[in-house]
Amino acid sequence: MFKYSQPVFYRFSEDSTFLAKKGVEFFCNDLKTFDKDVVLFDGFCGCGVVGIEFLLSCEGKKRIQQGVFLEKNPNMISFCEMNLEQLRDELKGNIPLELYNEDFFKFIFEKKLLASKIFFLINPPYFKENIQRQPENEDRKKARFFGQEESLEKIFLKIDEISVPKKTAGIVLYRVDQEDEEFVPNLRKKLRNISIFVEGNGSKKLVDLIYFKS
Ligand SMILES: C[S@@+](CC[C@H](N)C(=O)[O-])C[C@H]1O[C@@H](n2cnc3c(N)ncnc32)[C@H](O)[C@@H]1O
Repeated sequence: MFKYSQPVFYRFSEDSTFLAKKGVEFFCNDLKTFDKDVVLFDGFCGCGVVGIEFLLSCEGKKRIQQGVFLEKNPNMISFCEMNLEQLRDELKGNIPLELYNEDFFKFIFEKKLLASKIFFLINPPYFKENIQRQPENEDRKKARFFGQEESLEKIFLKIDEISVPKKTAGIVLYRVDQEDEEFVPNLRKKLRNISIFVEGNGSKKLVDLIYFKS
């Protein structure tokens, strides 16, 4: 049984394990062209739960060449490192795992991810700055709120930007009530290299998944 180390200021919920489960289904059933040498990229990784759950349960993990985890908040990093150490043992060192303490929007994808195929699993902050009352705890705030100039749309534009010549696919989880009804159609018009489609999350009406593929 995997024992997660997590900070007091942010504990993952079943949204994270749901995303990992959907990631396994998407990767195994729909992405046959991602046949080998794929980088799994957990882009707003927190304690690493999404990527870790994916790698623990994905039957197709032989196709994964490397797991890359990225987290901006330095106060999250030691927790994620402890979890990745445990995962290395579980995977018997078969998949190299790297953790970067960097900002997703500034991360140099081209230089640091040399693989030509990237599979993204992303559970980013849910809320836009200033829309909701923000927590006083700075770490909690970083986990739940996008920073200034950051947004769900910008995540997709960043992925779109690197999707040629690389092949990309993945899933982003988001709060439907934080975007307007035209969000998805408008986003579609701006994307050049990836196509997107939305899947509702059954009983959890506020959280949907956006799948994408280049
Ligand atoms: C909603 S939490 C999700 C964490 C984890 N993926 C999970 O499912 O539990 C969002 C995470 O993204 C991190 N984060 C926020 N902005 C970021 C950015 N620009 N680049 C990288 N990570 C960021 C936060 O510190 C937080 O750990």
